[in-house]
Amino acid sequence: MPETVTGDALFDVRGSRVVVTGAGSGLGLAIATCLAERGAIVTMAEVNRERLEATCEELAGRGLDVTAVPTDVREPDQVDELIERVTTAGDLDVVFANAGISAGPGFSRAEGEIDALKPSDWDAVRAVNLDGVVATLRAAAHHMKRQRSGKIVVTASTAGLRTDPMVGYAYVATKAAVVNLMKQAALELAPYGVTVNAIAPGPFRTNIGGDGGPSPDVEARWAETVPLGRMANPRELYGLALLLASPASSFMTGAVYPVDGGALARSHTA
Ligand SMILES: NC(=O)c1ccc[n+]([C@@H]2O[C@H](COP(=O)([O-])OP(=O)(O)OC[C@H]3O[C@@H](n4cnc5c(N)ncnc54)[C@H](O)[C@@H]3O)[C@@H](O)[C@H]2O)c1
Repeated sequence: MPETVTGDALFDVRGSRVVVTGAGSGLGLAIATCLAERGAIVTMAEVNRERLEATCEELAGRGLDVTAVPTDVREPDQVDELIERVTTAGDLDVVFANAGISAGPGFSRAEGEIDALKPSDWDAVRAVNLDGVVATLRAAAHHMKRQRSGKIVVTASTAGLRTDPMVGYAYVATKAAVVNLMKQAALELAPYGVTVNAIAPGPFRTNIGGDGGPSPDVEARWAETVPLGRMANPRELYGLALLLASPASSFMTGAVYPVDGGALARSHTA
Protein backbone atom coordinates (compact mmCIF):
# COMPACT_ATOMS: atom_id res chain seq x y z
CA MET A 1 0.00 0.00 0.00
CA PRO A 2 1.47 3.38 -0.90
CA GLU A 3 2.12 5.37 2.27
CA THR A 4 -0.23 8.10 1.02
CA VAL A 5 -3.30 5.85 1.37
CA THR A 6 -5.23 7.15 4.36
CA GLY A 7 -8.77 7.72 5.55
CA ASP A 8 -11.51 6.62 3.17
CA ALA A 9 -8.96 5.48 0.56
CA LEU A 10 -8.05 2.67 2.91
CA PHE A 11 -11.25 0.82 2.02
CA ASP A 12 -11.66 2.24 -1.49
CA VAL A 13 -12.47 -0.46 -4.04
CA ARG A 14 -13.88 1.87 -6.71
CA GLY A 15 -12.77 0.69 -10.15
CA SER A 16 -11.25 -2.54 -8.77
CA ARG A 17 -11.83 -5.47 -11.07
CA VAL A 18 -13.16 -8.31 -8.95
CA VAL A 19 -14.15 -11.89 -9.76
CA VAL A 20 -16.35 -13.89 -7.39
CA THR A 21 -17.11 -17.58 -7.93
CA GLY A 22 -20.34 -19.03 -6.58
CA ALA A 23 -21.69 -15.49 -6.83
CA GLY A 24 -25.33 -16.37 -7.42
CA SER A 25 -26.20 -17.12 -3.82
CA GLY A 26 -25.24 -16.79 -0.17
CA LEU A 27 -21.77 -15.59 0.68
CA GLY A 28 -20.62 -15.12 -2.93
CA LEU A 29 -23.63 -12.94 -3.65
CA ALA A 30 -22.93 -10.98 -0.47
CA ILE A 31 -19.30 -10.41 -1.48
CA ALA A 32 -20.30 -9.37 -5.01
CA THR A 33 -23.03 -7.04 -3.72
CA CYS A 34 -20.86 -5.42 -1.06
CA LEU A 35 -18.02 -4.66 -3.48
CA ALA A 36 -20.23 -3.60 -6.40
CA GLU A 37 -22.16 -1.24 -4.08
CA ARG A 38 -18.81 0.37 -3.28
CA GLY A 39 -17.87 0.92 -6.91
CA ALA A 40 -15.97 -2.24 -7.83
CA ILE A 41 -16.38 -3.78 -11.29
CA VAL A 42 -17.58 -7.25 -10.41
CA THR A 43 -17.66 -10.38 -12.55
CA MET A 44 -20.08 -12.87 -11.08
CA ALA A 45 -19.21 -16.49 -11.90
CA GLU A 46 -21.69 -19.21 -11.09
CA VAL A 47 -22.71 -22.68 -12.27
CA ASN A 48 -26.45 -22.16 -11.79
CA ARG A 49 -27.39 -20.01 -14.80
CA GLU A 50 -30.89 -19.17 -13.68
CA ARG A 51 -29.70 -18.01 -10.30
CA LEU A 52 -26.80 -16.12 -11.86
CA GLU A 53 -28.98 -14.26 -14.31
CA ALA A 54 -31.58 -13.34 -11.71
CA THR A 55 -29.10 -12.01 -9.15
CA CYS A 56 -26.94 -10.23 -11.70
CA GLU A 57 -29.97 -8.55 -13.31
CA GLU A 58 -31.15 -7.39 -9.92
CA LEU A 59 -27.79 -5.80 -9.10
CA ALA A 60 -27.39 -4.31 -12.58
CA GLY A 61 -30.91 -2.87 -12.24
CA ARG A 62 -29.64 -0.94 -9.25
CA GLY A 63 -26.95 0.60 -11.44
CA LEU A 64 -24.10 -1.58 -10.18
CA ASP A 65 -21.27 -2.63 -12.49
CA VAL A 66 -21.76 -6.39 -12.59
CA THR A 67 -21.33 -8.97 -15.34
CA ALA A 68 -22.58 -12.53 -15.29
CA VAL A 69 -20.28 -15.25 -16.60
CA PRO A 70 -21.71 -18.78 -16.32
CA THR A 71 -18.82 -20.85 -14.97
CA ASP A 72 -18.40 -24.29 -13.49
CA VAL A 73 -15.27 -24.16 -11.31
CA ARG A 74 -14.91 -27.94 -11.72
CA GLU A 75 -13.89 -27.25 -15.33
CA PRO A 76 -10.45 -25.62 -15.43
CA ASP A 77 -10.99 -24.48 -19.05
CA GLN A 78 -14.08 -22.55 -18.02
CA VAL A 79 -12.19 -20.93 -15.15
CA ASP A 80 -9.33 -19.98 -17.48
CA GLU A 81 -11.84 -18.42 -19.88
CA LEU A 82 -13.50 -16.52 -17.05
CA ILE A 83 -10.22 -15.00 -15.90
CA GLU A 84 -9.08 -14.40 -19.49
CA ARG A 85 -12.26 -12.50 -20.17
CA VAL A 86 -11.62 -10.14 -17.28
CA THR A 87 -7.93 -9.64 -18.00
CA THR A 88 -8.47 -8.71 -21.64
CA ALA A 89 -10.31 -5.63 -20.33
CA GLY A 90 -7.73 -4.64 -17.70
CA ASP A 91 -5.98 -5.72 -14.52
CA LEU A 92 -7.38 -8.46 -12.33
CA ASP A 93 -7.38 -6.93 -8.86
CA VAL A 94 -9.23 -9.37 -6.63
CA VAL A 95 -10.45 -12.95 -7.00
CA PHE A 96 -12.72 -14.63 -4.47
CA ALA A 97 -12.50 -18.42 -4.90
CA ASN A 98 -15.75 -18.92 -3.05
CA ALA A 99 -17.83 -21.62 -4.74
CA GLY A 100 -18.38 -24.59 -2.47
CA ILE A 101 -20.84 -27.33 -1.60
CA SER A 102 -21.53 -29.59 1.35
CA ALA A 103 -22.70 -33.21 1.56
CA GLY A 104 -23.57 -33.64 5.23
CA PRO A 105 -22.14 -36.08 7.75
CA GLY A 106 -20.77 -39.35 6.42
CA PHE A 107 -19.45 -41.82 9.00
CA SER A 108 -22.14 -40.98 11.51
CA ARG A 109 -25.15 -40.36 9.32
CA ALA A 110 -27.00 -43.66 9.01
CA GLU A 111 -27.51 -46.33 11.63
CA GLY A 112 -25.83 -49.57 10.69
CA GLU A 113 -23.91 -48.15 7.76
CA ILE A 114 -20.17 -47.64 7.85
CA ASP A 115 -20.35 -44.60 5.68
CA ALA A 116 -23.45 -42.87 4.41
CA LEU A 117 -21.48 -40.74 1.98
CA LYS A 118 -21.26 -42.46 -1.38
CA PRO A 119 -17.97 -42.25 -3.27
CA SER A 120 -19.79 -39.99 -5.71
CA ASP A 121 -20.60 -37.57 -2.83
CA TRP A 122 -16.93 -37.43 -1.89
CA ASP A 123 -15.98 -36.81 -5.51
CA ALA A 124 -18.61 -34.10 -5.85
CA VAL A 125 -17.47 -32.20 -2.77
CA ARG A 126 -13.80 -32.55 -3.65
CA ALA A 127 -14.40 -31.44 -7.23
CA VAL A 128 -15.94 -28.11 -6.20
CA ASN A 129 -14.31 -27.34 -2.84
CA LEU A 130 -10.76 -28.37 -3.68
CA ASP A 131 -10.28 -28.88 -7.43
CA GLY A 132 -12.40 -25.80 -8.14
CA VAL A 133 -10.33 -23.67 -5.78
CA VAL A 134 -7.10 -24.98 -7.31
CA ALA A 135 -8.36 -24.12 -10.81
CA THR A 136 -9.33 -20.62 -9.67
CA LEU A 137 -6.05 -20.04 -7.84
CA ARG A 138 -3.99 -21.20 -10.82
CA ALA A 139 -5.82 -19.02 -13.31
CA ALA A 140 -5.69 -15.97 -11.03
CA ALA A 141 -2.03 -16.52 -10.13
CA HIS A 142 -1.06 -16.81 -13.77
CA HIS A 143 -2.27 -13.28 -14.48
CA MET A 144 -1.47 -11.68 -11.15
CA LYS A 145 2.17 -12.82 -11.35
CA ARG A 146 2.50 -11.02 -14.67
CA GLN A 147 0.84 -7.92 -13.22
CA ARG A 148 2.93 -8.19 -10.05
CA SER A 149 -0.16 -7.35 -8.03
CA GLY A 150 -3.47 -8.83 -6.93
CA LYS A 151 -5.40 -10.30 -4.07
CA ILE A 152 -6.86 -13.80 -3.87
CA VAL A 153 -9.33 -14.74 -1.16
CA VAL A 154 -10.43 -18.33 -0.67
CA THR A 155 -13.59 -19.27 1.22
CA ALA A 156 -12.56 -21.93 3.74
CA SER A 157 -14.68 -22.55 6.84
CA THR A 158 -14.40 -22.95 10.58
CA ALA A 159 -14.80 -26.61 9.58
CA GLY A 160 -11.38 -26.41 7.92
CA LEU A 161 -9.78 -25.48 11.24
CA ARG A 162 -11.30 -28.12 13.50
CA THR A 163 -13.67 -31.07 13.34
CA ASP A 164 -17.38 -30.39 13.02
CA PRO A 165 -20.12 -32.99 13.61
CA MET A 166 -22.63 -30.90 11.66
CA VAL A 167 -20.91 -31.10 8.28
CA GLY A 168 -19.04 -34.38 7.84
CA TYR A 169 -15.69 -35.54 6.63
CA ALA A 170 -15.81 -34.58 2.97
CA TYR A 171 -16.45 -30.98 3.91
CA VAL A 172 -13.90 -30.70 6.75
CA ALA A 173 -11.20 -32.48 4.73
CA THR A 174 -11.61 -30.27 1.66
CA LYS A 175 -11.80 -27.09 3.73
CA ALA A 176 -8.69 -28.04 5.72
CA ALA A 177 -6.89 -28.72 2.46
CA VAL A 178 -7.93 -25.31 1.17
CA VAL A 179 -6.37 -23.64 4.22
CA ASN A 180 -2.94 -25.15 3.60
CA LEU A 181 -3.29 -24.65 -0.15
CA MET A 182 -3.91 -20.96 0.53
CA LYS A 183 -0.79 -20.72 2.72
CA GLN A 184 1.40 -22.40 0.12
CA ALA A 185 0.03 -20.13 -2.60
CA ALA A 186 0.66 -17.11 -0.37
CA LEU A 187 4.30 -18.11 0.08
CA GLU A 188 4.87 -18.77 -3.61
CA LEU A 189 3.11 -15.61 -4.79
CA ALA A 190 4.47 -13.16 -2.20
CA PRO A 191 7.57 -12.35 -4.28
CA TYR A 192 5.23 -11.14 -7.02
CA GLY A 193 3.30 -8.82 -4.71
CA VAL A 194 0.24 -11.08 -4.82
CA THR A 195 -1.54 -11.77 -1.53
CA VAL A 196 -3.59 -14.87 -0.73
CA ASN A 197 -5.84 -15.22 2.30
CA ALA A 198 -8.76 -17.32 3.48
CA ILE A 199 -11.96 -16.50 5.25
CA ALA A 200 -13.39 -19.02 7.71
CA PRO A 201 -17.10 -18.40 8.09
CA GLY A 202 -19.11 -20.01 10.83
CA PRO A 203 -22.78 -20.82 10.17
CA PHE A 204 -24.43 -18.35 7.78
CA ARG A 205 -28.00 -18.53 6.47
CA THR A 206 -27.46 -19.47 2.82
CA ASN A 207 -28.62 -22.17 0.40
CA ILE A 208 -25.69 -24.49 1.09
CA GLY A 209 -27.76 -27.07 2.98
CA GLY A 210 -30.59 -26.89 0.42
CA ASP A 211 -32.48 -24.21 -1.47
CA GLY A 212 -34.52 -21.98 0.79
CA GLY A 213 -31.96 -21.98 3.57
CA PRO A 214 -31.85 -23.87 6.86
CA SER A 215 -35.03 -25.17 8.49
CA PRO A 216 -35.87 -23.76 11.95
CA ASP A 217 -34.63 -27.01 13.48
CA VAL A 218 -31.28 -26.88 11.66
CA GLU A 219 -30.96 -23.18 12.44
CA ALA A 220 -31.50 -23.87 16.15
CA ARG A 221 -28.85 -26.61 16.12
CA TRP A 222 -26.34 -24.31 14.48
CA ALA A 223 -27.19 -21.47 16.86
CA GLU A 224 -26.22 -23.68 19.80
CA THR A 225 -22.70 -24.02 18.39
CA VAL A 226 -22.13 -20.26 18.31
CA PRO A 227 -21.39 -18.12 21.40
CA LEU A 228 -23.38 -15.25 19.87
CA GLY A 229 -26.30 -17.70 19.83
CA ARG A 230 -27.45 -17.41 16.23
CA MET A 231 -26.60 -18.00 12.59
CA ALA A 232 -25.33 -15.04 10.58
CA ASN A 233 -26.92 -13.06 7.79
CA PRO A 234 -24.69 -13.09 4.66
CA ARG A 235 -24.45 -9.29 4.96
CA GLU A 236 -22.36 -9.85 8.06
CA LEU A 237 -19.54 -10.90 5.74
CA TYR A 238 -19.37 -7.42 4.15
CA GLY A 239 -16.78 -6.02 6.56
CA LEU A 240 -14.27 -8.82 6.07
CA ALA A 241 -14.84 -8.96 2.30
CA LEU A 242 -14.20 -5.23 2.00
CA LEU A 243 -11.11 -5.41 4.19
CA LEU A 244 -9.57 -8.23 2.15
CA ALA A 245 -10.43 -6.62 -1.20
CA SER A 246 -9.18 -3.14 -0.32
CA PRO A 247 -5.82 -1.43 0.27
CA ALA A 248 -6.43 -1.82 4.01
CA SER A 249 -5.21 -5.43 3.80
CA SER A 250 -2.00 -4.67 1.88
CA PHE A 251 0.28 -6.41 4.42
CA MET A 252 -2.02 -9.34 5.09
CA THR A 253 -1.21 -12.62 3.39
CA GLY A 254 -1.13 -16.33 4.20
CA ALA A 255 -3.70 -16.01 6.98
CA VAL A 256 -7.17 -17.30 7.83
CA TYR A 257 -9.79 -14.86 9.08
CA PRO A 258 -12.73 -16.33 10.99
CA VAL A 259 -16.13 -14.64 10.97
CA ASP A 260 -17.96 -17.04 13.20
CA GLY A 261 -19.76 -15.44 16.12
CA GLY A 262 -17.10 -16.86 18.44
CA ALA A 263 -17.50 -20.50 17.38
CA LEU A 264 -13.77 -21.18 17.17
CA ALA A 265 -13.19 -19.58 20.55
CA ARG A 266 -15.52 -22.16 22.06
CA SER A 267 -14.36 -25.06 19.86
CA HIS A 268 -15.33 -28.16 21.87
CA THR A 269 -13.77 -30.32 19.21
CA ALA A 270 -10.35 -28.71 18.73
N1 LIG B 1 -23.10 -20.90 4.75
C1 LIG B 1 -22.21 -21.26 5.66
O1 LIG B 1 -22.56 -21.43 6.83
C2 LIG B 1 -20.77 -21.45 5.29
C3 LIG B 1 -19.85 -21.60 6.34
C4 LIG B 1 -18.51 -21.75 6.03
C5 LIG B 1 -18.11 -21.76 4.72
N2 LIG B 1 -19.03 -21.62 3.72
C6 LIG B 1 -18.54 -21.63 2.36
O2 LIG B 1 -19.00 -20.48 1.69
C7 LIG B 1 -18.99 -20.73 0.29
C8 LIG B 1 -20.31 -20.28 -0.29
O3 LIG B 1 -21.33 -21.11 0.23
P1 LIG B 1 -22.76 -20.55 0.65
O4 LIG B 1 -22.98 -20.90 2.05
O5 LIG B 1 -22.91 -19.17 0.20
O6 LIG B 1 -23.69 -21.54 -0.21
P2 LIG B 1 -24.76 -21.27 -1.36
O7 LIG B 1 -25.19 -22.62 -1.78
O8 LIG B 1 -25.79 -20.31 -0.89
O9 LIG B 1 -23.92 -20.58 -2.52
C9 LIG B 1 -22.91 -21.27 -3.20
C10 LIG B 1 -23.02 -20.97 -4.68
O10 LIG B 1 -21.97 -21.66 -5.35
C11 LIG B 1 -22.51 -22.19 -6.54
N3 LIG B 1 -21.73 -23.33 -7.02
C12 LIG B 1 -21.81 -24.62 -6.60
N4 LIG B 1 -21.00 -25.38 -7.34
C13 LIG B 1 -20.40 -24.57 -8.24
C14 LIG B 1 -19.48 -24.79 -9.29
N5 LIG B 1 -19.06 -26.02 -9.59
N6 LIG B 1 -19.06 -23.73 -10.01
C15 LIG B 1 -19.53 -22.48 -9.75
N7 LIG B 1 -20.43 -22.22 -8.79
C16 LIG B 1 -20.85 -23.25 -8.03
C17 LIG B 1 -23.92 -22.60 -6.18
O11 LIG B 1 -24.75 -22.74 -7.33
C18 LIG B 1 -24.34 -21.46 -5.28
O12 LIG B 1 -24.96 -20.41 -6.01
C19 LIG B 1 -18.70 -22.21 0.13
O13 LIG B 1 -17.34 -22.40 -0.18
C20 LIG B 1 -19.02 -22.77 1.48
O14 LIG B 1 -18.34 -23.96 1.73
C21 LIG B 1 -20.35 -21.46 3.99
